Amino acid sequence: MLDADAKLCALEDIADNDALGMVARIEGKQRNIFVARRGDAAYAYINWCPHAQLLLDQVPGKFFEPEHKYIRCGMHAATFQVEDGLCIQGPCEGESLKSIKIEIQDGAIYMAE
Ligand code: FES
Repeated sequence: MLDADAKLCALEDIADNDALGMVARIEGKQRNIFVARRGDAAYAYINWCPHAQLLLDQVPGKFFEPEHKYIRCGMHAATFQVEDGLCIQGPCEGESLKSIKIEIQDGAIYMAE
């Protein structure tokens, strides 16, 4: 499990326009999270769909729709923007994924306070 300030992974561990799931300690609790990559940028979220409170990757590790433009929940296909986690289509439209602050330093991704 990864704690605050811990290195989550290297940016290059994540394929571009894809995401990597992992477990980290968030606010004292062990949580499933994922980090999505878009080019040189990365975005981290709690792996928890706001619709029915389930893991997004019902197929483990599959966080994106087939064209890899959006994050998509594997249960009822809620579709989320990569950059801000906003649901733009599906049963929880207008709600958002819970974001996690991260920093990228020298190609490594760390949780930020
Ligand atoms: S649980 Fe994610 S869309 Fe329903």
